[in-house]
Amino acid sequence: DPEETLKPRPPVVTIMGHVDHGKTSLLDALRGTDVVRGEAGGITQHMGAYQIKTKGGDFVTFLDTPGHAAFTQMRMRGANVTDIVVLVVAADDGIMPQTVEAINHTKAAGVPMIVAINKCDKPEANPQKVRERLLEHSIVVEEMSGDVQDVEVSAKTGKGLDELIEKILLQAELMELKANPDRMAEATVIEAKLDKGKGPLATVLVNRGTLKVGDILVVGTESGRVRAMLDDKGRQLKQAPPAMPVEVLGIGGVPMAGDLLTVVESEQRAREVSAYRQEQATAKRTAMAPA
Ligand code: GTP
Ligand code: NA
Ligand code: MG
Repeated sequence: DPEETLKPRPPVVTIMGHVDHGKTSLLDALRGTDVVRGEAGGITQHMGAYQIKTKGGDFVTFLDTPGHAAFTQMRMRGANVTDIVVLVVAADDGIMPQTVEAINHTKAAGVPMIVAINKCDKPEANPQKVRERLLEHSIVVEEMSGDVQDVEVSAKTGKGLDELIEKILLQAELMELKANPDRMAEATVIEAKLDKGKGPLATVLVNRGTLKVGDILVVGTESGRVRAMLDDKGRQLKQAPPAMPVEVLGIGGVPMAGDLLTVVESEQRAREVSAYRQEQATAKRTAMAPA
């Protein structure tokens, strides 16, 4: 619709980097939470989706990836939700195999990157070496007169975190990210699961429009009605604007990461759309099945 009124929306930032380089710790420091401590073995198993309010009142949405499988899988399914990648590199460990993979995925996606050189509190930290080694992967950071923003941080001491946020907001400003909040919502499934008590739960990121409690929806081949929505701190929400991640209750089954959620005007329409999508999915499976 060319008549749509687009309004500025928060950037969606995906955090990538090698195992244990401090992705979740950085987000914890930014959010004032302690997710790492609650993780089995300190390993991120699920995609986390969070929105923070910056000191200046701007919002930034963060996706924390368990490895970058989730990022690649979603992209393969056509879900390009990431505006900016923050590449986390531990200053003691340096460039590792998964750092290189993250660089390659980011380049393939054509998404701008900001390098956060983490663990700079450690005596063995060598941020300059990280910058030099990045050159081998054609990443030329500002410090080396390039155009990729970089910042020295410590999730432990909080060093550089304000600067990291500033750089994210600067990058976002250049991109002029906009969406129309005044329409029926479209969202992308970030992750989904079956909860014993609550039933199917999906964490979705609103792409455009505003998702509301009571909305009738189709997501992948499932349909339902938004019974409740929770933010990343478990607070109930009545509505979710563009770039807001929320957990949705009320879907008939468990959708897949990367599935599109579409709000429709009636239950009749929801049944039609989900039946159509089921046919398409079946046709695709039949076509792909070995003879
Ligand atoms: P995965 O999700 O398993 O890939 O790890 P991650 O990248 O999320 O790293 P995580 O936040 O789990 O941190 C790994 C370890 O590094 C933990 O023991 C953290 O306490 C530690 N760590 C993270 N950031 C810093 C930092 O800035 N300084 C120091 N000294 N330790 C840190
Ligand atoms: Na970890
Ligand atoms: Mg983690």
